[in-house]
Amino acid sequence: MTRKKPKRIGLAIVGAGRVGLICGELATRHPEVDWIGIAEINPERGEIVREKCGADFVTTDFRELLARPEVNAVVVSTDEHLHVDPVVMAAERKLPMLIEKPLATDLAESESTLAAIEKAGVDAVMGYTQRFRRRWLVAKEKVRSGALGEVTMVTSRAFMNRLVAIDNYKRSDNRAEVTPMVISGTHALDIVMWLMEAKKPVEVYARSVNKALGPTWQGVDGTGYTITFDDGAIYHGVISWALPEIWPGAVYSLEIGAVGTEGVLTIDDTHRDIVLATNLIQAEGYAPDKRRHVDFLTSYPVGDMALGELRGPMREETNSWLNRVSLGVSTQHATAREGHNRLMLTKAIDLSARLRRAVRLPITAADMGGAP
Ligand SMILES: NC(=O)c1ccc[n+]([C@@H]2O[C@H](COP(=O)([O-])OP(=O)(O)OC[C@H]3O[C@@H](n4cnc5c(N)ncnc54)[C@H](O)[C@@H]3O)[C@@H](O)[C@H]2O)c1
Repeated sequence: MTRKKPKRIGLAIVGAGRVGLICGELATRHPEVDWIGIAEINPERGEIVREKCGADFVTTDFRELLARPEVNAVVVSTDEHLHVDPVVMAAERKLPMLIEKPLATDLAESESTLAAIEKAGVDAVMGYTQRFRRRWLVAKEKVRSGALGEVTMVTSRAFMNRLVAIDNYKRSDNRAEVTPMVISGTHALDIVMWLMEAKKPVEVYARSVNKALGPTWQGVDGTGYTITFDDGAIYHGVISWALPEIWPGAVYSLEIGAVGTEGVLTIDDTHRDIVLATNLIQAEGYAPDKRRHVDFLTSYPVGDMALGELRGPMREETNSWLNRVSLGVSTQHATAREGHNRLMLTKAIDLSARLRRAVRLPITAADMGGAP
């Protein structure tokens, strides 16, 4: 590899909530970032984040930000259902992007957004942050290099505190689109599909339950699904985001097992190995709640604050993307096409659960009414 002169970065951050702030703080410390601009519809929040990141520009209108001549790279970290408009405009300007997951929450929008990205030929990658953790990288390497022989069965179990679900239902005006699969199950799904990337999924069968979150939030508690691949391999997954508020895992507890013809790989990512119990009130994580006095630390997927800085996967992911933009190095980020594939699969899982029958893969937006 020949060494290149790094490209200087003018970074636009669209959506300055939890993730936007983290990206801004990391960008401030990155040696190639010369300029940071923020678009945030909530002006008070925009001002707080501008100050914390020492940003050069702040606006409530992402169009104004993306039209600025300084901007040559974009992070889209708006709410899940609001990624599409800034992504399409950034694609038109041919700006490289880091787009938070999911690509969209509506399948037709995901299709048109991917088409806009691919037509423009821009380098757009997705925030599947877990790919930046050493354990999943090691798993990927072992599967890729054949340590398991031919992989035939994979299982994943994702358990989540219901605080994340409730926060998402409060923020959305279209609750039918806020499902555990589309919002959160997509992380476990991405890891497994990344491990199985040589295989083609052909059918999914799923069921959902809604007894805990259904009555108050018209929400889904959890979903179980089986995906079959064209070579007969199967992936069985389950996600619940309806665990009680006092469940010690702040956000994500995951277990994965992969069985092949020659080997097996099991990964305990439940975070039970680091437990804090305190009489004092905890105010950290995705959706802090004063009823929680016991915490499986490190279960917040983005990472944890320590000594004034975020430590963990989102730091690796953001710095790695800034290096990708600046130095042109390759990274393990999911592509926009993979992002669309994950949204398609989560929608197919939800569709199968709704229709109570198997669904052939892939599906398109035209199938969402209930067709094939
Ligand atoms: N990769 C991960 O591990 C991970 C973790 C948490 C969240 N996320 C994803 O990151 C995204 C943001 O999540 P969050 O937790 O930061 O949410 P958040 O609610 O804290 O932040 C979203 C912000 O976007 C702003 N916004 C919405 N529409 C806008 C627009 N058109 N222009 C400018 N600002 C706009 C909102 O006002 C809000 O401040 C979501 O897609 C979420 O799924 C990813």
